[in-house]
Amino acid sequence: MEKRRIIVGISGASGIPAAVEVLKLLKQQEGYESHLVISDSGKVTITYESSWSVKDIEGLADCVYDTHSIGSAVASGSFRNDGMIIVPCSMKTVAGIANGYSDSLLLRAADVVLKERRKLVLMVRECPFSSIHLENMLKLCNLGVDILPMVMTFYNKPETLEDMVHHMACKCLERFGIEAEGYRRWMEQ
Ligand SMILES: Cc1cc2nc3c(=O)[nH]c(=O)nc-3n(C[C@H](O)[C@H](O)[C@H](O)COP(=O)(O)O)c2cc1C
Repeated sequence: MEKRRIIVGISGASGIPAAVEVLKLLKQQEGYESHLVISDSGKVTITYESSWSVKDIEGLADCVYDTHSIGSAVASGSFRNDGMIIVPCSMKTVAGIANGYSDSLLLRAADVVLKERRKLVLMVRECPFSSIHLENMLKLCNLGVDILPMVMTFYNKPETLEDMVHHMACKCLERFGIEAEGYRRWMEQ
């Protein structure tokens, strides 16, 4: 049976461990495959803030695309997929999507997901937000985009930073109806 596809974008915001966790959890889902695009700045943040190499992170995905390769499969609306998660999502990437400015494969893929009315989940990260960031996010939210800020949660009783990252990654996948192992729902623990 053909697997369901989810596009994963990694942009240059802080939060690379969340991207790694999303890719790992997707790998555990038998019926799904991940299609990964990393922005140039995403590659920079990977080296700055994680012990993972770009190659190792790419190795977690089923298919990898170069963000400069604008003619790749994920650039087309005819490419079958369930939608896209951008994790972490920078304010520059938010601005690009909110304004239809698709000058990279990552932005084009998100633009296509939006125009095809598929699911777009943005795990945004900045602190504090400016009114420009908030206006761009409101615009996208009103278009049906899921804005999931990278925020801490305590109701799930995390003991480690990894628990927090895991919880955020589970929330991303939940948007696609995927129940990741170890997801601690309120009152269901
Ligand atoms: C270590 C590091 C952390 C960064 N964290 C953030 C962040 O949390 N949010 C953000 O919007 N930009 C952040 N930036 C800046 C973005 O990388 C920069 O705006 C870049 O142009 C984003 O490009 P992209 O959206 O194409 O990946 C960070 C940059 C570096 C080097």
